[in-house]
Amino acid sequence: MTEPVTIRPLSYADLPQVLSIERRAFPTPWSLAMFVLELSKPSGICLAAMLDRRLAGYVVCSRYDTVWHLMNVAVDVTRRREGVASALLGALFDRADRPGERYTLEVRRSNAGAISLYEGFGFRGAGYRRGYYHDNREDALIMWRTVAVQAADRADPEAERSARDDRAPA
Ligand SMILES: CC(C)(COP(=O)(O)OP(=O)(O)OC[C@H]1O[C@@H](n2cnc3c(N)ncnc32)[C@H](O)[C@@H]1OP(=O)(O)O)[C@@H](O)C(=O)NCCC(=O)NCCS
Repeated sequence: MTEPVTIRPLSYADLPQVLSIERRAFPTPWSLAMFVLELSKPSGICLAAMLDRRLAGYVVCSRYDTVWHLMNVAVDVTRRREGVASALLGALFDRADRPGERYTLEVRRSNAGAISLYEGFGFRGAGYRRGYYHDNREDALIMWRTVAVQAADRADPEAERSARDDRAPA
């Protein structure tokens, strides 16, 4: 019987399984060194999704300056449309969301499934990087998500300032 998805921090020991998922998920997969680098960053959030005691997917998110960059998310090709990516993104936002917090990502413009996933979490398209992907010169859609600032938070000058600065770059 399938158990619910559980989410935990991604570890170096997961990387062989991560690479196996990664190589089936992307035409230009990340190398081992790229995952090691991301895991070594203290400010990043890297999560693993476990399903039936096996690694079913992962998310890698890094913080640069004031913005979270969703760097990588992938799910085992045999475990898609079971809510694994949604569980990963939900857990990421549970950990990182603060009023006015901003996230960005790039996604192939043809990747309708991923775009739909991101839109479901409040990401919105904000323009294209032309020919961004080296393998086929495909455009990247740039997406942004901003955590709302509630009325109660506006009493906090720092939250109010970040809400005012909340402009997705062109
Ligand atoms: C994109 C990806 C991470 C989605 O993972 P997943 O675990 O299957 O996603 P979920 O089951 O949580 O889907 C949540 C919602 O996203 C949307 N969605 C996900 N995959 C979709 C697809 N192939 N087509 C259309 N909508 C899709 C749907 O709205 C879905 O809800 P529903 O199943 O109730 O209709 C997975 O397909 C994948 O690993 N793809 C290859 C790697 C990739 O493209 N990563 C993103 C790079 S930017």
